[in-house]
Amino acid sequence: MAGVVVTSRLPGNAVERLREVHEVRYRDDDAPVPPAELPVLLAGAEAVVVTLGHRVDTAFLDAAGPSLKVVANVAVGYDNVDVEACRSRGVLVTNTPGVLTDATADIAFALVLMVTRRLAEAEREVRGGAPWEFGLFHLLGTSVQGKAIGILGPGAIGLATARRARAFGMTVLLSGRSRPSADVVGELEAEVVGFEELLERSDVVSVHVPLSPATRHLVDAGALARMRPSAFLVNTARGPVVDEAALVAALEAGRLAGAGLDVFEDEPRVHPGLLGRDDVVLLPHIGSATVETRTAMADLAVDNVLAVLDGGVPLTPVG
Ligand code: DGY
Repeated sequence: MAGVVVTSRLPGNAVERLREVHEVRYRDDDAPVPPAELPVLLAGAEAVVVTLGHRVDTAFLDAAGPSLKVVANVAVGYDNVDVEACRSRGVLVTNTPGVLTDATADIAFALVLMVTRRLAEAEREVRGGAPWEFGLFHLLGTSVQGKAIGILGPGAIGLATARRARAFGMTVLLSGRSRPSADVVGELEAEVVGFEELLERSDVVSVHVPLSPATRHLVDAGALARMRPSAFLVNTARGPVVDEAALVAALEAGRLAGAGLDVFEDEPRVHPGLLGRDDVVLLPHIGSATVETRTAMADLAVDNVLAVLDGGVPLTPVG
């Protein structure tokens, strides 16, 4: 029996599955572990299941000690984990790719529709109780049909978003480090272009790159200045990829038509310059938030732990 620590409440029967084979210290709580409690919780763990609210850094690894074999992150992004520090101690890191692709792409395209068709603003109007009536000029938005969506980061989620955009009659531009196969480019009738060309030609830019030192503030003031004043920015990846202060400045100056954001630079804080604007849609990082998806994410994290503690290789290792 090995010691598995689960730092947050998990959906489905993931914890029961661990308990069938291992001793489990389960912290049945949604809030991240207060740093002072880490040493007691993690001491002697062989595996830890963590969520995005936890920073897995040297203090975390020190608290667990040399018994630790694997950190299973219940997320596809793993910028909360110091992968180098784990590697140097021989600790494996796993994430949950694949199982949240559709849910996150759904939210990315929902944001495209929300921001272009002014849906949040419209809903606020009805809910606010003010008188309204049908009018030819009431709450006019922008049609997506025939417009170009620029997918910044054509990985699985970016491509799934592009498929949704195609179904809505949009053309697709792709740009990023990973080059999609010729088959996928053909299926999407997409054009692979450079970063600057994508910014200049897109009516909607949808961000799907992982957060790394290279992508922090990738969408900065200079990038925003290349976008069309009629264009919209959507971000379902990681907040710090977009320079939020520069985004607010661009919106305030009328140099951008709007933004749909599911992620923020300093979550859960949101730049005050965004909060009062009708041309932005703000969601609280719910890209993967369906019962089915979150259950599949927890299950995949547990599968990774079970594989490693059984002496095998993890299903979805990082790096
Ligand atoms: C992820 O998995 O990285 C999302 O941001 C949360 O599901």
